[in-house]
Amino acid sequence: MGFIADSLNRIQPSATIAVATKARQLKAEGRDVLSLSAGEPDFDTPQNIKDAAKKALDAGKTKYTDVDGIPELKAAICAKFKRDNGLDYKPSQVSVGTGGKQVLYNALLATLNPGDEVIMPAPCWVSYADIVLLGGGKPIFAETRMEDGFRLRPEVLEAAITPKTKWFIFNSPSNPTGAAYSAEELKRLTDVLLRHPQVWVLTDDMYEHLIYDGHKFFTPAQVEPKLYDRTLTMNGLSKAYCMTGWRLGYAAGPEPLIKAMSKLQSQSTSNPCSITQWAAVEALNGPQDFIARHNAIFVERRDLVVSMLNQAKGLKCPKPEGAFYVYPSCAGAIGKTTAKGKVIANDEDFVTALLEEEGVACVHGAAFAGSPAFRISYATSTDVLKDACTRIQRFCGNLK
Ligand SMILES: Cc1ncc(COP(=O)(O)O)c(C=O)c1O
Repeated sequence: MGFIADSLNRIQPSATIAVATKARQLKAEGRDVLSLSAGEPDFDTPQNIKDAAKKALDAGKTKYTDVDGIPELKAAICAKFKRDNGLDYKPSQVSVGTGGKQVLYNALLATLNPGDEVIMPAPCWVSYADIVLLGGGKPIFAETRMEDGFRLRPEVLEAAITPKTKWFIFNSPSNPTGAAYSAEELKRLTDVLLRHPQVWVLTDDMYEHLIYDGHKFFTPAQVEPKLYDRTLTMNGLSKAYCMTGWRLGYAAGPEPLIKAMSKLQSQSTSNPCSITQWAAVEALNGPQDFIARHNAIFVERRDLVVSMLNQAKGLKCPKPEGAFYVYPSCAGAIGKTTAKGKVIANDEDFVTALLEEEGVACVHGAAFAGSPAFRISYATSTDVLKDACTRIQRFCGNLK
């Protein structure tokens, strides 16, 4: 329709939201559907965080706040960066938004000019490329390989950089692969970036706390302090604190960038929800012990899913270090025909047929710029995961 802005034609609706919506619709029609598409924990928000929200509501914290966050929350965020990452930020270097997504959106829209290039390791989270396109920039996918544990090789990053590169987006542990980088692996990437002063680092640390088997989390400005002045360190409460619906994300970086992000936000949503901000103060300052309890459950589920998927004909599923996703290759299924006669030409056909024939919803790899593969979220109950993996095994076993 000619009435809609051209800029909207450059982007796609979020594929993960689309799959989740389709699964919900099928369920509403009475179909037996197991959804492994959601990027959110099935655990409820911890009680102390909910109580802080109730208290804020009763205390009348229901008015507009400073556009990019209340001072109490900015102080809690600065304390978090010091405690967890050894990074010194002042409150004036912090911006709080309505979810990690808005913070990323603000950073990219506040900085991109037409033709600016943004490098992202592929496969990567669905929204990076679309936000870059909306901002008039050009997404550049730097390929990672399953045999490297989906970690970007320094020479691939080096080759992707041009004089037009504005940002390098880094995400560890990664959505969709779950790959996490050790300090040494990350240092090899930051060494490349040191040679290219025009490139800024946008690190998406959303899955910081969801890391397993003794692996430790590192963020670029911590591993290479010389990058501090051109790094935006972004994080949020959605995943580790089980607060996806509350909508709160934040970032810290150089003041002029933070000011520009706040300016943009002042003309869109204004402040993030006042009650959510008070809950976030409690989330960051309060007890953190539930994270380890959740992680023990995530590890059990990951191991179950990896083992069951590797027993499915034609699938190959590496064991990731973090997040709550696995990213199996379905290369062995391409070119085959399903029990109901559908030919599988690509990973989108694979997930579509899997949903139609076995009622299991996952997201195709093409949505993450990494084919042929698909993403499974194991942030759901063990019973559902067992049932879903059994169905996937049957689906794959029936391919001819
Ligand atoms: C890698 C990554 N970054 C950012 C986000 C956005 O998080 P939020 O729900 O806080 O907007 C997500 C959510 O799926 C994610 O997986």
